[in-house]
This record gives sequence, structure tokens and C-alpha cells, in this order.
Amino acid sequence: MKRVVVLISGAGRNLQALIDAQRHGRLPDCLVGVISSRADAPGVQRARDAGLPARCITPADFTDRPEFDAALMRQIDDWAADWVVLAGFMRILTPGFTQHYAGRLLNIHPSLLPRHPGLRTHAAARAAGDARHGATVHFVTEALDGGPRIIQGALMVRPEDTDETLAERVMVEVERRIYPQAVAWAVAGRLTVDAMGRVGLDDRTLQAPLSLDDLEAGF
Ligand code: GRF
Repeated sequence: MKRVVVLISGAGRNLQALIDAQRHGRLPDCLVGVISSRADAPGVQRARDAGLPARCITPADFTDRPEFDAALMRQIDDWAADWVVLAGFMRILTPGFTQHYAGRLLNIHPSLLPRHPGLRTHAAARAAGDARHGATVHFVTEALDGGPRIIQGALMVRPEDTDETLAERVMVEVERRIYPQAVAWAVAGRLTVDAMGRVGLDDRTLQAPLSLDDLEAGF
């Protein structure tokens, strides 16, 4: 079975979605450990409650970014991870890290990339007057929030949405659905990316990221 290590920094709701998916058989038994970049992240308790080993590796304990990333890599490789899954991990990774895990490093970003990379995406979508907003699962490369996209889930922004309600809707209606599915494809060996950044699912090369409609259609 493929082994997955999850990196978090905060609430850990995406981590929880993965734990729940594993518990309900929508994800095989693949989660082997969780690393948090913050000792007080609530996600650490979620990991421990699920019986997963959890380690805190905090940037303040290291002299620079490469040293911090090297410590992450040591722990991830100690756990013999096949896939590394970023779930609200609020650190920019060095090229050394992204190259080490190239093709087996996933992230979820709360916007319809390439719209709104970076932080405060829900506020940005509202400020831009976007009719649609959502979240994207993508392979991680050196380009911040710019790696090859796998699946995007979209919802309609409502006039009465605030940044907070929009964030909540994206989490509940989109993120909790698309991330466990993408990780399930990954550990089943169904998901690939080639040197040109083309994403493959089974024997099909994706011309565009998959959508919630594709999920409903039974991918
Ligand atoms: C999510 O919106 C995720 O898309 C983004 O950071 C947030 C993390 O939330 N990368 P959580 O820690 O999974 O609750």
C-alpha cells in the first residue's frame, strides 16, 4: 500500500476529511503520519485522535528555510512516504524540497487557479466580483500555486456571502470532496504528471482540470 504523509499548519479540516475518508473506506489505509509547522495547530490533535503519528517541526527552530525543509524531508523519508499531501501548510517550500518529491507532492488551494494564487483568496474573489469561486487540487512545483491542476470544484458566489461564509462553503462543498478523491487516485496509482506538466488519470491525459461534475459522473 502507498504511504501518505500530510503536512499542516492550522485547523486541519482537510486532514480531517482525509481521515474520515479513510475511516469510511473512500480512501485506503494510506495515512502514515502528520507533520505540523505549528505546535499549537488544532490539526495535531485531530491526527492524534485518529491514532496517527504527529510531529511538530517549527521554522523557529532552524536557521533558514533549507534547514527547515531538510528536517521535513528527514521525517517524511523516515516514514517512507510515497506521496506528500499539503493540507493548509502555510510555508513556501524550497526548490530542493519540491524537486525531491516531484510528481508525488499535492496541494489544495482555495480558489479556481490560476485565479487568486496566494493568501486571502475568498476576499480576492469577492473583491473581483467573481460569480464562481472554489478550490483546486494541484501538483506542487517551484511555481507558487502554479503547478499542474488535477481537479477544481466550483460554486456560485452569493450576494450575501462574506469572506467567512464563502470560506466555509468552499471548505464544506468543495475541499472536503475533491481532496480525498485526488489522494485516492494518487495512492491507487491512477494519477501521474509528465515532464511537460501534463496530468494523467488512468490512460487519459487531462486537457483541463476535472470538475465536481466529472466526480458525479463517476471518475
Ligand atoms: C484550506 O482552505 C486550504 O485550501 C488552504 O488552507 C486552508 C486550510 O484549512 N490551503 P485546514 O487547515 O485544512 O482546515
